[in-house]
Amino acid sequence: MQNFKLDRDIAHLAVLQRIELTGAFLKKLRKIFGRYIFSAFISKYLINPNEISKNYFNLMNKEFSLIDKYIKHNNKILTIGSGIGGLEILIHKKFNNHITFIEKNYISKKVKYGWDIKNKEAYNSLKLLEKFLLNNGFESNKFNLFDFDNDKLPQEKFDVIISLYSLDYHYNFNLYKDYLNKVMKSESILIIDTIRPDFFKTIFKKVEVIKEDIDTVHKSKRIICKNQ
Ligand SMILES: C[S@@+](CC[C@H](N)C(=O)[O-])C[C@H]1O[C@@H](n2cnc3c(N)ncnc32)[C@H](O)[C@@H]1O
Repeated sequence: MQNFKLDRDIAHLAVLQRIELTGAFLKKLRKIFGRYIFSAFISKYLINPNEISKNYFNLMNKEFSLIDKYIKHNNKILTIGSGIGGLEILIHKKFNNHITFIEKNYISKKVKYGWDIKNKEAYNSLKLLEKFLLNNGFESNKFNLFDFDNDKLPQEKFDVIISLYSLDYHYNFNLYKDYLNKVMKSESILIIDTIRPDFFKTIFKKVEVIKEDIDTVHKSKRIICKNQ
């Protein structure tokens, strides 16, 4: 696979989910025109979808190379806040696993980044997420999509749960704590980004830091949590 196939609508979501995909110029426009115009117009019409696609593909390959070794063939995977799902496409291509997605199905009017106490912020569309997965070779019987706000969440057990820059990075882990208790087995692993890795030592037996973001405002760490 050389690149992702992605159109303007999907590139728009990718930019909202990963602002680093755009250049300094667009970030400057966000400062000048404000979050509303940026979210609805600038991040959709002033981008080059081919360039976003290339940047997103490279970024997701980097993310994949970091977590690749923790995944095995036939692992059942749950991903929370996948965004448009590029990482999941790469995982599926290599391991052919079934992947369950939990996401939100709306775009906030003024996308705000940072800690979101009420978990009101969202920048996704389940229809576009599905389109992106299908357009990039993910077979429809190999994934399920759940809308966090409107669907009953899946109750089966998962081997690997992934939430990059979503759970405990933007909204409190407690929102999913009881749910994860139900769907994790003793050998399951959870991979998340957080600014408070020590908190997770009070919940899981083992917490391993696999990446540190020192250049960003949030200075988060990527951790792998497990009970075995
Ligand atoms: C910063 S983006 C990160 C996307 C992707 N994981 C990545 O690394 O590119 C955060 C994502 O979390 C989603 N989100 C927000 N609240 C959520 C919730 N309660 N459950 C699942 N996803 C959620 C947003 O819609 C958004 O797509």
